[in-house]
Amino acid sequence: TELYAVLGNPIAQSKSPYIHGEFAKQTLQDISYQAIQPPVDQFESTLRTFIKQGAKGANVTAPFKEQAFTLCDELSELAKLAGAVNTLSFTVTGKIIGDNTDGVGLVNDLQIQFGSLAGKRILLVGAGGAARGCILPLLQSNISKLVICNRTYSKAKQLALLFNDFGNVCAENINTLNDEFDIVINSTSAGLSGELAPLPESVIGKNTMCYDMTYGKKLTLFNHWAQSVGAIKTADGLGMLVGQAAKSFSIWRGVMPDPQIIMTTIRQQMT
Ligand code: ATR
Repeated sequence: TELYAVLGNPIAQSKSPYIHGEFAKQTLQDISYQAIQPPVDQFESTLRTFIKQGAKGANVTAPFKEQAFTLCDELSELAKLAGAVNTLSFTVTGKIIGDNTDGVGLVNDLQIQFGSLAGKRILLVGAGGAARGCILPLLQSNISKLVICNRTYSKAKQLALLFNDFGNVCAENINTLNDEFDIVINSTSAGLSGELAPLPESVIGKNTMCYDMTYGKKLTLFNHWAQSVGAIKTADGLGMLVGQAAKSFSIWRGVMPDPQIIMTTIRQQMT
């Protein structure tokens, strides 16, 4: 049995142990997958203890993704640009390899929910860690353009500059946006405190599809707003969550599980 875990604080609500347990059954892999809650100031020591126990890999979630990035001996291209990692692999020689599968999880789920991204004009709302991790995979999906907007414009501008060499990306001021988009993605944490990013209704046209990276049992606040102003379709981030897990699992185990099989069960389990 090979050992894996997710490290985050808090971690009790994490669905990762269930998801990876199901993936292991599906693909006949002999793994054990725990949930670990390091004290906020003891991520590194907790991680090193886990590695000493013979662990093969770990997922990292809030608030440790940026710190995990700094501890890696090697990083994938995606992780380098994301500036954060959610997937660690531990080699036999004791190295920590970091990857970021959030963006791939998002793009795969967008394609499942909304179809091909080719030629799409995409608005990314928010410029924090969640947004940054997804920009490169979006730019690599043959989209027409990516516009980043954020409550704090300067952060959107910085991100657009950082990814300028990788595709058609720019920042716009959230208050002066006046284009319509094919897809609008909410990456902000506004909804978690019952708030909405101040987007103008004009970004939503009659064929606009909206994706909220957060998820819940009920329709998310952002998706509720999107539907009320006429979005043709909405989806929440549960598929992204399961998709990033599937990609992590395939990095560790060399076999890609099917994320769709467990989606219905996970949604039913949500409280
Ligand atoms: P994460 O890792 O979830 O992206 P983060 O790096 O703290 O977390 O980023 C949070 C994002 O949500 C930011 O884009 C933030 O906007 P600011 O850069 O202006 O702070 C956005 N956000 C959080 N609360 C918000 C609110 N009430 N309204 C609009 N945007 C909000």
